[in-house]
Amino acid sequence: MKWLTAFALVLGSTMAHAEGNKFSVPANLKWKEECGSCHIAYPPQLLTGENWQRLMGGLDKHFDANAMLDPKDNQEILDFLQRYAGRGGRNSAPSLRITDTPWFSREHREVSINTWSDPAVKSRANCTACHVNAERGDWSERGIKMPGGQQAGEREEQSERGGYRREDR
Ligand code: HEC
Ligand code: HEC
Repeated sequence: MKWLTAFALVLGSTMAHAEGNKFSVPANLKWKEECGSCHIAYPPQLLTGENWQRLMGGLDKHFDANAMLDPKDNQEILDFLQRYAGRGGRNSAPSLRITDTPWFSREHREVSINTWSDPAVKSRANCTACHVNAERGDWSERGIKMPGGQQAGEREEQSERGGYRREDR
């Protein structure tokens, strides 16, 4: 299975026709390698160029980690991220977290508090806890399996139990 995973990692980003692959980008091995080792290599489209610039300028204090790169690799990855970056306020967050952008809140408004705090999720940034095929570039609705048994689309019932409350945090 291992070679299969590696194969998918290398090819995944070039398969623009893959199911639900709305964030396809040309393969960039440096980015995949350096930005995909601690977490999934987040699609460049999900933050603005300005956000990526600030993020790449502070890799020594990268959330809870030190993700420092040498200047050459840093520049190469920043160029790549900025080239495919998202635009406008909906893809921007002062915290530099994709999970704090208006776009993310809207797409995830149906996810209940219980699901977010499920031990199998731990963090909203842990995209692959639910988007089980995201590593291959598949972010489609069909590729979502939520831990804890909530079904994608279970909107009304969940929101009454406080599913919207996460927006206050
Ligand atoms: C040494 C480990 C490590 C490396 C390498 C790393 N990161 Fe991270 N990154 C983290 C941690 C830890 C978090 C916080 C995750 C959380 O809150 O669950 C994070 C969070 C993020 C977030 C915010 C996610 C969100 O919306 O909450 C972005 C964006 C991000 N990283 C981009 C990058 C990029 C781009 C690179 C490559 C230059 C990179 N990371 C390399 C450890 C790393
Ligand atoms: C707790 C599970 C969970 C986590 C973690 C999660 N998502 Fe989602 N995501 C969902 C659900 C549920 C939807 C809504 C699907 C629908 O429209 O019914 C969704 C929708 C999306 C969509 C739109 C899919 C479509 O075709 O409509 C994208 C893109 C997306 N999420 C990206 C991300 C990213 C990037 C991360 C990590 C930074 C992330 N998600 C973390 C559950 C999750």
